[in-house]
Formats: sequence, C-alpha cells, structure tokens
Amino acid sequence: MRSSCILCSLAAYVALGAGSASNVNSIHRRDANCTLSGPIGATSVNQAVKSCTTITLSNIAVPAGTTLDLSKLTDSTTVIFDGTTTWGYQEWDGSLLQIGGKNITIKGSPGAILNPDGARWWDGEGDNGKAKPKFFAAHNLIDSTITSLSIKNTPRQAVSIGGCRNLTITDMTIDNSAGDAGSLGHNTDAFDIGTSSNIVIDGATVYNQDDCVAVNSGVNIAFKNGLCSGGHGLSIGSVGGRSNNTVDSVTFSNSTVQKSVNGIRIKTKGTETGLVKGVTYEDITLKSISGYGILIEQNYNGGDLHGVAGTGIPITGLTLSNINGVGAVANKGFDVVVTCGSSSSCTDWIWSNVTVTGGKTYASCTNVPSITKCS
Ligand SMILES: *[C@@H]1O[C@H](CO)[C@@H](O)[C@H](O)[C@H]1NC(C)=O
Ligand SMILES: *[C@@H]1O[C@H](CO)[C@@H](O)[C@H](O)[C@H]1NC(C)=O
Ligand SMILES: *[C@@H]1O[C@H](CO)[C@@H](O)[C@H](O)[C@H]1NC(C)=O
Ligand SMILES: *[C@@H]1O[C@H](CO)[C@@H](O)[C@H](O)[C@H]1NC(C)=O
Ligand SMILES: *[C@@H]1O[C@H](CO)[C@@H](O)[C@H](O)[C@H]1NC(C)=O
Ligand SMILES: *[C@@H]1O[C@H](CO)[C@@H](O)[C@H](O)[C@H]1NC(C)=O
Repeated sequence: MRSSCILCSLAAYVALGAGSASNVNSIHRRDANCTLSGPIGATSVNQAVKSCTTITLSNIAVPAGTTLDLSKLTDSTTVIFDGTTTWGYQEWDGSLLQIGGKNITIKGSPGAILNPDGARWWDGEGDNGKAKPKFFAAHNLIDSTITSLSIKNTPRQAVSIGGCRNLTITDMTIDNSAGDAGSLGHNTDAFDIGTSSNIVIDGATVYNQDDCVAVNSGVNIAFKNGLCSGGHGLSIGSVGGRSNNTVDSVTFSNSTVQKSVNGIRIKTKGTETGLVKGVTYEDITLKSISGYGILIEQNYNGGDLHGVAGTGIPITGLTLSNINGVGAVANKGFDVVVTCGSSSSCTDWIWSNVTVTGGKTYASCTNVPSITKCS
C-alpha cells in the first residue's frame, strides 16, 4: 500500500534542510507533525511511529484483521484522532487498536469518533459465538494521558488497561447503546483494569452491556465523575486465578450507575487466593437497578453467588459512604447482598449513609460484618 504519510515526509524534509549536516540528528528528524489519512498500511504507521512527534490520524480506515499498532511509540509522542476512524470486518480476537509508550498524549479532536462498527459482529454471545476483536489495548502506557476520546459500538470489550503506570483518562465516551437492541451487544465491558498503578478515569460516560469498570488487579485506581448506563455496574473483580490477584486502594466516587444489572459489585473467587484491600465507593447514585444494588461476594465462579464463599481472598478496609439508591432496585432484585467466607475474611469495613431500597432481602447472606446488613 502507498504510504500516505505525506506531511510526515515533508516535515522531516524541512527539518533536514534547515539543519547543517552535523546537527541533523534523530531529535531533528522527530520534530515533525505527521498526518495520516484514509486507508492506511502498517508501513506508514511504522514510519510515523519512528519519525513523528505528533501523529494525527485523520479519518483513517484500518484494514480488516489488523491492529492499528501504536504500541511502541517513541517517548513523548502525541497522538490525535481526528474525524472518524474505521476498521474493516474480520472475525478475529483483535485488538483493533493498541497504544503504548512513555509520556504519551492521546487526544480526540472535537467531534472525532473511533467507530469499529461492532454491530457487524454482534450476535448476542459476546466472548462466545463468532470471534470478535477486543477494541483498545491501552497497555504499557506510562506517565501518559488520554483525553476526549469518543468510542462507538465496540465488538466486545472496549478498553483494556494493563501494565500501565500513571495514566489519566479524561472525558472518555464509550457508547455501545445500539447493542441493547435485540440484546445483541454482550461482554462489552468499558474499562477492564489489571496490573496497573496510579490510574485515574475522570468524567467517563459509558453506555454498554457489561461491567462499566472491572478492576482485576492493581494499585491506586480512581474512577470519578462518571456515568455508567445499561451494564453491570462498578466492579472489583472477578479477583482470583490470574497472574496478579491483588487489588489495593481503588476509589469510585461521584458517579451514577443507572439502568444496570448491578450498582456496586465486588466478586472474588471462592477457591482462589489474593487480596482486596482499601476499596472505597463514595457519593454514588444508583437508579433503575434490576439485579443487585450492592453485591459483595466471596463465592463468584464465573456466575454470581455460586457455591460456598471462600476465605482465600479477604476483602479488607472496604468503605461505602453516601450511597444513594432510594427506590433504585427493581422489586425482583436485591438491595444489599453480602457473602463472606468467614468473619475474618471481611474486616475493617466502613458503611456510612448507605441507602439502597426497592428490592427483596436475600436469604443466604453469610458472615456479614456487623456494620452492614443484608437487606
Ligand atoms: C506540531 O503541532 C503542535 C500542535 O499543533 C505545535 O505546537 C507544534 O509547534 C508543531 N510542531 C511542528 C514541528 O510543527
Ligand atoms: C512529555 O511530553 C511533552 C510533549 O507532549 C514534552 O513537552 C515534555 O518535555 C515531555 N516530558 C518528559 C519528562 O519527557
Ligand atoms: C504522571 O504523568 C504526567 C503526564 O501525564 C506527568 O506530568 C507527571 O509528572 C507524572 N507523575 C509522576 C509521579 O510520574
Ligand atoms: C501484583 O501487582 C502489584 C502492583 O500492582 C505488586 O505490588 C505485587 O507485587 C504483584 N503481585 C504479584 C504476585 O505479582
Ligand atoms: C460530579 O460529577 C459530575 C459529572 O458527572 C460533575 O459535573 C460534577 O462537577 C462532579 N462533582 C464534583 C464535586 O466533582
Ligand atoms: C447521605 O448521602 C446523601 C446522598 O445519598 C447525601 O445527599 C447526604 O448529604 C448524605 N448525608 C450525610 C450526613 O453525609
């Protein structure tokens, strides 16, 4: 495929021409703003990754079955998405987009949309059924920011945050609401987070059909000022059986969960080991919850409340404060469900100003810390 990095080579040429031969070095060569547009190939992307400080992706069309691979960006690169980014159709696992590097700035221009047109894959079966690409692997992003990205209709999971350190995601929109029709969208988790530290997700707007946030492992993670609609709520876990099973210091604050199966959920596997420590939910509003307002379970096994609650993954230092779910739970749902393996596997909980009503009382809560109650 013909390289479309026209401005890229132009800017590099100008930089080369401006310097004397002796000071033409890699720094000068990288002093370039490059724009890629239209159908792009791996060659033009690789060239831009090597030689541009700012890469603008303007209305690009990524060929079927390929990753838009920005996983090895040079330090301090800026990536700007402009117009509509599209992907061709192929049944494969993805990811459709991968970005990694240090001190990376990723932005969406006003009106820009990343549109993988997931409806082409949706069959109501998510991870099963036909092979569907995961969307965005935000892996190994260090000291980086992602601002104002708008993502529409992912085939399944939207954003995977893995191996990241000091990453701030601001004002991201993930709109998979079209997947509600005929229940075709499935496993469309918005943010899956693992083995990462110092992550902030601020001002996210999510319409999907699975977890809004799922933290499987990691340290110092904050989700704030968000809206989660249509999915499975603000989740820790499932924790257990992965390469890292420690969740430490996670805060969900000032957010609304609506039209969802769950509001707040912590799920650990009964037969595994690990630790869930220092998780806080504060200033959370719940509305129209069909299943569980608050569900904290040590007996998750791929499904909620399956089998005997275990003690191998203690939940310690859990705070729920100012949780407003008055009348939020459907009358067939449950307001608050807690299943702990023992009194020593759920310790140091703070439960203050938590009001979740509308649903039934669950009959099989176990070892519920005295500060809370199953209701
Ligand atoms: C690249 O674009 C940025 C932002 O538009 C600008 O600040 C910078 O000066 C540009 N650099 C070059 C080499 O043109
Ligand atoms: C980070 O990248 C920005 C450009 O986005 C640059 O101005 C700054 O110097 C870089 N910081 C470090 C520590 O490299
Ligand atoms: C975190 O990343 C930002 C860039 O997004 C940088 O300015 C800041 O210095 C980093 N903080 C630490 C503690 O490294
Ligand atoms: C899990 O990850 C945390 C940091 O996120 C780290 O401190 C801990 O050592 C890791 N544990 C294992 C078993 O790798
Ligand atoms: C809470 O989040 C909303 C956005 O959902 C924002 O408008 C508001 O400013 C936030 N409040 C605080 C105190 O940060
Ligand atoms: C209790 O939480 C509600 C939100 O659910 C909040 O409006 C109210 O101010 C809180 N009360 C106290 C005493 O903090």
